[in-house]
Amino acid sequence: MKAFTFKKYGSSDVLNPETLEKPIPKANQILVKIYATSVTAGDWRVRSATPFPIRFHSGLLKPKNTLLGHEFAGVVEMVGEEVGEFQVGNRVFGSMGMKSGTYAEYIAVDVESPIAKIPEGLSFEEAAVVPVGFLSAYYFLQKVNLKPGMKVLIHGVSGSVGSAMLQLAKAKNAYVVGVCSSKNASWVKDWGADEVISYDNEDFTILPKKFDLIVNAVGKTSFREIKHLLKPEGKYMSNDAVLSDYLDLLTQTLGGKKEQVIVGIAEQKKTDLRVIQSLLAERKIRPYLDRVYSFDEISAAHTYVEKGRKAGNVAIQIA
Ligand SMILES: NC(=O)c1ccc[n+]([C@@H]2O[C@H](COP(=O)([O-])OP(=O)(O)OC[C@H]3O[C@@H](n4cnc5c(N)ncnc54)[C@H](OP(=O)(O)O)[C@@H]3O)[C@@H](O)[C@H]2O)c1
Repeated sequence: MKAFTFKKYGSSDVLNPETLEKPIPKANQILVKIYATSVTAGDWRVRSATPFPIRFHSGLLKPKNTLLGHEFAGVVEMVGEEVGEFQVGNRVFGSMGMKSGTYAEYIAVDVESPIAKIPEGLSFEEAAVVPVGFLSAYYFLQKVNLKPGMKVLIHGVSGSVGSAMLQLAKAKNAYVVGVCSSKNASWVKDWGADEVISYDNEDFTILPKKFDLIVNAVGKTSFREIKHLLKPEGKYMSNDAVLSDYLDLLTQTLGGKKEQVIVGIAEQKKTDLRVIQSLLAERKIRPYLDRVYSFDEISAAHTYVEKGRKAGNVAIQIA
């Protein structure tokens, strides 16, 4: 099968085509013919080992796993003998979690991992970009008790995680103010934001409003910079925390203070993907697709995503 692998860390041209053995599914696995995958922020970070500590997980001197790609959409081609949930021909989407391997024509997936059938009306490219953004956003939002009418500020609302947070918060009837550049303001409003602040025209840090929840979705602000915008019981949350956020979390924990700072790595759960699948089927959420590249253009897609300005998500069409 055709795959794109990387043998060393570096710029996007370390990704090269390679012919690999087609995997054979184990008893608890399904073989998926991949129709689409994506380039997430995590993919370019691992490819380039940015920041350096990524190497402690991915390999100190060179990548341990040469196949990148964290999410996929495709069709079940074979099922292991213990699998009852999926059948040959099912359209499925899912995430490999902390593992990777979707930059290939086929993947053997453990059925206990986050994988589900694609709801009607969603293309492979759309389905492929759902899991990482929505599972991460869902994981973090479960840490707060979001109630109708609560005020939420999302900084970096136009990213993959930010646009998922926006829609999941709106599904809970929260009042969402999104911060992004003016080039993304229009679709962010269409995707449900009650107010959009374009950071290139307006300074959101001097807003008169106070928020129940502030989300730092793309690591361009910090708890210290915006804590004055929180209500007394408000919470700050980041999937892309900066160093000072970790220090503030430490102070909070050691000092026995009330929980205000929430940071960490999202756990991607199959049960959560089921919830996302239902919300997609009910048309309550939808992924925002910025660009679709062909498989052979995967290096160009990496170069684009690495600039940190993608709107929502970038898909790769494999079949
Ligand atoms: N902790 C976890 O478990 C977890 C899970 C998933 C992702 N992540 C991390 O979360 C981060 C976000 O990933 P992502 O894929 O959602 O987005 P991304 O690709 O990292 O960021 C793209 C977005 O950032 C926005 N942006 C750039 N500069 C900005 C600024 N100064 N202020 C506000 N927005 C700005 C851009 O919008 P404009 O062009 O409009 O500025 C663009 O829409 C990544 O670092 C990723 O590695 C962490």
